[in-house]
Amino acid sequence: MARKTVIAGNWKMNKTAAQASAYAAEFLTALGQAPLTEVVLCAPFTALPSLQAGLAGSDVRCGAQNVFWASAGAYTGEISAEMLVDAGCTYVIIGHSERREILGESDELVARKLKAALSAGLIPILCVGENLAQRETGQAVAVVNAQMRANLAPLDAVEIQRLVVAYEPIWAIGTGKTASVADAQEMCVAIRACLAEIVPAAAAEHIPILYGGSVKTENIAAFMRQQDIDGALVGGASLDPADFAALVRRSGGEAN
Ligand code: PGA
Repeated sequence: MARKTVIAGNWKMNKTAAQASAYAAEFLTALGQAPLTEVVLCAPFTALPSLQAGLAGSDVRCGAQNVFWASAGAYTGEISAEMLVDAGCTYVIIGHSERREILGESDELVARKLKAALSAGLIPILCVGENLAQRETGQAVAVVNAQMRANLAPLDAVEIQRLVVAYEPIWAIGTGKTASVADAQEMCVAIRACLAEIVPAAAAEHIPILYGGSVKTENIAAFMRQQDIDGALVGGASLDPADFAALVRRSGGEAN
């Protein structure tokens, strides 16, 4: 089954506008000819306009790392999905574990954000994943299934088919520890099975499911060889343009 493959960089709270423009130029040069994968760079809000300008004319997409659920109004400090579209975003990360843990985002809030992003025409990258205690006590699949069901609750089947899902075990993020390739594949199968209970099975087959958590140039190929892993969400290893371009090329099977 041919599914879209997606490699998304998550810069987190890194890079100014000037650094984003320099990155875009260097990244496009290092990437060379357009890769077969969909490549996305998720930048801080303030760097989005210069990143978008730097990527203009290429196939590399811009994404944001967060969005608010209302389209406008008295929500001091928030950014709407329409504003992200206006800033040139195609994608938006929603429900990253750092936001769930550090900022207390609930499943219900994540669900509202998904709805808002989809309504504005953005492609959400929905992050789900268990913590170490949950993994060690054998609850990982149940936890991720519960997150999926709660987060997708307000969405209809057509909306769900437009999502990208990223499985990110919390204990593997920024720690240098990755899930074993087999564990990551097993969870991606479980996520697809969960999706198939909500949307028609044939539609679930088309939803890209990414792995995230200490993905690097050295390990991307092993994850990409798994049948149910359709790409990666990459934090630390997306910060250097030459390194991230090498990772993207490696994800498509290139040796260098
Ligand atoms: P990492 O982060 O690649 O630095 O582990 C991944 C993420 O948080 O999306």
